[in-house]
Amino acid sequence: GEALRVALAGLGTVGAGVIKLIDANRTLIKRRAGRGIEIVAVSARDRARDRGVDLSRFDWTDDTASLASRADVDAVVELIGGSDGPALTLARAAIASGKAFVTANKAMIAHHGLELAEAAEEAGIAFKYEAAVAGGIPVIKGLREGAAANEISRVYGILNGTCNFILTTMEAEGRDFAEVLADAQRLGYAEADPSFDIDGVDAAHKLSILASLAFGTRIDFGAVAITGIRDVLAIDIAEAQALGFRVRLVGVGEAGPGGLFQRVHPCLVPVTHPLAHVTSSLNAIVAEGNFVGRLFFEGRGAGEGPTASAVVADLIDIARGEGGPAFAMPVASLAAPEIAQAGER
Ligand code: NDP
Ligand code: HSE
Repeated sequence: GEALRVALAGLGTVGAGVIKLIDANRTLIKRRAGRGIEIVAVSARDRARDRGVDLSRFDWTDDTASLASRADVDAVVELIGGSDGPALTLARAAIASGKAFVTANKAMIAHHGLELAEAAEEAGIAFKYEAAVAGGIPVIKGLREGAAANEISRVYGILNGTCNFILTTMEAEGRDFAEVLADAQRLGYAEADPSFDIDGVDAAHKLSILASLAFGTRIDFGAVAITGIRDVLAIDIAEAQALGFRVRLVGVGEAGPGGLFQRVHPCLVPVTHPLAHVTSSLNAIVAEGNFVGRLFFEGRGAGEGPTASAVVADLIDIARGEGGPAFAMPVASLAAPEIAQAGER
């Protein structure tokens, strides 16, 4: 069949990674998808910036939103970031123009995902965001598809690669927080504003998405209680270690008798627990289903290659014509979460 024609907005860590992956695995992707995946147009801010990829074969535009209305584009990929601003403008325009839409933007999904998914459902187009939670780990697919037949009681895990890299590097090497954060930024793990990582907001965005998928409820980011890792000291990590624990930033979603709990905070994890063995930029998610039992997903949660892997997997799904709702069920059928504990924000 004819290639899926893609417009790519945002050519940073993830955007450049998507171009590299499609270049490297072109033949394999074509065989698996049943048709090629071809980038036709790209957009970013600085045309002169060296991104380590050849952009001369693509149409360049400074007018990002115009990607949405191109007749030669079937799918728009948003890799700019930010819950509002150009990312949201592009998302709305792409869906309104009937383009399939792929994003890695958890901030935008946490705040506007229901609106966007509902518009996509009404228009009958694909809306996909596998890369938005836990980088390369196919946990959206895992919960939305793999565990779909289960009642899930709890979903929890390590959802931020930057924080896990900082905590586990401090743990292993006794290095200073600020120095390790600078490494995480160099490695492409951190958000453009790294306070989203270290203050736990990024993990909370992801948790609110996972909780919606696990419990079939509307995303409720405002109800997440959040504490980040800013105040975790090297001495806390060392003392925890002496007592047989590891410090990890953990997000927990629990459906209890009183309603839904969502929280993100540093936890003391016993060394015998699988989450204690999750180091560096790895993420891991546990989900407990009433028929499947305990599921454990682990993999690289941030960085160019893993995140590009999830973005291109979404494009392959679209090229194959695989459908289904973006969340646990059509947005109109998602339950309003009964809140057991109000968030602090
Ligand atoms: P970067 O900051 O590396 O890249 C952002 C890109 O967006 C840059 O190319 C920038 O242009 C471009 N951009 C900024 N503003 C505009 C605009 N107004 N119009 C067009 N382009 C614009 O971010 P990442 O690649 O790290 O992240 C992208 C998205 O993926 C974010 O939503 C992030 O949360 C998410 N994500 C990131 C992961 C990671 O490990 N890095 C993992 C999972 C998700 P220019 O280069 O010219 O400045
Ligand atoms: N900044 C995020 C992290 C990127 O460190 O986990 C992956 O979503």
